[in-house]
Parts: sequence; structure tokens; C-alpha cells
Amino acid sequence: MVEIELKPEEFALFRRYIYEKVGISLSDQKSTLVKGRLNKRLNQLGLDSFRAYYDYLVHDMSGEELALFVSAISTNVTSFFREGAQWKWLESYLPALIASKREKKIRIWSAGCSSGEEPYTILMFLQHHLSDFESWDIKILATDISPKVLSHAIEGSYEAKNVEAMPREIIGKSFEKVRTEKGIHYRIASHLREKVMFRLYNLVTDPFFFKNQFDMVFCRNVMIYFDDPTRHEVIRRFTTVLPKGSPLFLGSSESLTSHRDTLKLLGSSIYQRL
Ligand SMILES: C[S@@+](CC[C@H](N)C(=O)[O-])C[C@H]1O[C@@H](n2cnc3c(N)ncnc32)[C@H](O)[C@@H]1O
Repeated sequence: MVEIELKPEEFALFRRYIYEKVGISLSDQKSTLVKGRLNKRLNQLGLDSFRAYYDYLVHDMSGEELALFVSAISTNVTSFFREGAQWKWLESYLPALIASKREKKIRIWSAGCSSGEEPYTILMFLQHHLSDFESWDIKILATDISPKVLSHAIEGSYEAKNVEAMPREIIGKSFEKVRTEKGIHYRIASHLREKVMFRLYNLVTDPFFFKNQFDMVFCRNVMIYFDDPTRHEVIRRFTTVLPKGSPLFLGSSESLTSHRDTLKLLGSSIYQRL
């Protein structure tokens, strides 16, 4: 592989573009990271400079190169039942949510859902805790900026090592075991897959067209790379789709310093809409 240099003026172009498109602010120190992580991609594309790659990136109207760039400099890491304390909290919150419902209808948004573990965990959780789960009208909206992770999420098939640590009872009710060329995989059962609507959606630049309210919003480990003004605006939008009393879940390393008048910290990075 040819090692391609990233000049300061080239890095400045990426920095501005990425900030405008995804709200990620790259500090000067990130120049080495961009160079290191993107060199392979430039080689794959047969490009000999970062300036040429910049032109390629900005002219790709599909958004796929942008998603690839974001994946290269950030992370899609996720897992089933991630942030254990939040699921514990949800166990105690669920009876109140159920009691508040006149219609048996639940709507949840998993924003930045990566390869689907988060929205599917929500369904597994509800299936486990609602004895009349099948009689509920439950829909999860699951969105991400990356087409690659979304196609994995839609397929809903996971390696055994990512599934087998879960309780047997949950695995039995939620997955079908399938033999693939790559070994044993677990595929989310169709009665759960059909409750999730996966959509490509950029939280920073796509228009905010949501009119319906959600019973809860999960946006965990997504805004870690956003700067304060971007995070502020994304959170403000979430508050417009959350009815009073509803929870917003962030990642355990994330906390809010703003929106004190509309969101109250309940603990474990769970905020309640006031
Ligand atoms: C680390 S994963 C978190 C997945 C899951 N929420 C969790 O906590 O396990 C972050 C995800 O956010 C997505 N993401 C990053 N910036 C985004 C943006 N501007 N709009 C939508 N999704 C974004 C990434 O593509 C990635 O899949």
C-alpha cells in the first residue's frame, strides 16, 4: 500500500466539510487519525492525493462515501443489552408507561441504531416483560447515517459470539439459528424484525420532519463526536417529539450541560422530558 500524505490545507477541507455535514468537529490532533484510517480507502479507489479524495467525497451524491468516512473516523460499536443499568431502570418504569396507555400502542425511536442491536434489544426487552406482548401495537423507528450498518440491521443476522451470552429464554423467543458459510448465525425472528422501520437519516443535516410523538428516544453513543452547538440542536429536536414525562436515553459517558428547563437527569444518563 502506498502511504499518502495529508497536507494541513487538505485536512482543513475535510474538517470543514465533516463539520457541516455531520456535526463532527475534528481537532488538529485528528489529522494523523484521518490520514491513517483513510489511506487504505484512497488506495482502494486508486487516488494519489487527499485533495483528489476530497473531490470524490463531496461529489458522491449517494452519501455512501460520507458514511464510510464517518465510520472510518468514528465507531459503529454496539451490542445487545448495552448499558445494563438503563435496562434495569426501564424495568421499573415500564408499569407506569403501560398504565398510562389508553390504546395499546408504543412508539420508540432508536437514533444512531448502528447494526440493529439496540432496536432489537428494545423489542426483546418488551417481549420479555409484557405478558401480552403480541396484543400491543409496537413500532420502533431505527435510523442511522450509514447504509452499511443499516443493511446489516435489516438482515438482522448476528454471529453466535454476540448472542450466546444472553439468557437462553430470550434467545429462544427472539432468534432463529441459521447455518451460514461463516458458521452458526442467529437471525432475529421475523415477528420482531417486522416491528422495526429502518431508515437512513442524518441527525445533523436531514430535515426534521417527525410529527408524531415517541414514548422514548434512544440516542446512545452517537453524539460523542459532535460539538456543543450541534449536540444542543439535536437534543432540542428530540424534546419536540417527547411528551412530558418520557425518557431520553444517552450513552453512559454522555451528559447534558444544557436543556435544564426541558430535561431532568434521572440517573445512568437517562433524562426525563419536563
Ligand atoms: C457507536 S454507534 C452507537 C450504536 C448504539 N446507539 C449503541 O449505543 O450501541 C454510533 C452510531 O451513530 C451513527 N451516527 C454518527 N453520526 C450520525 C449522524 N450525524 N446521524 C445519524 N447517525 C449517526 C454511526 O453511524 C453509528 O452507527
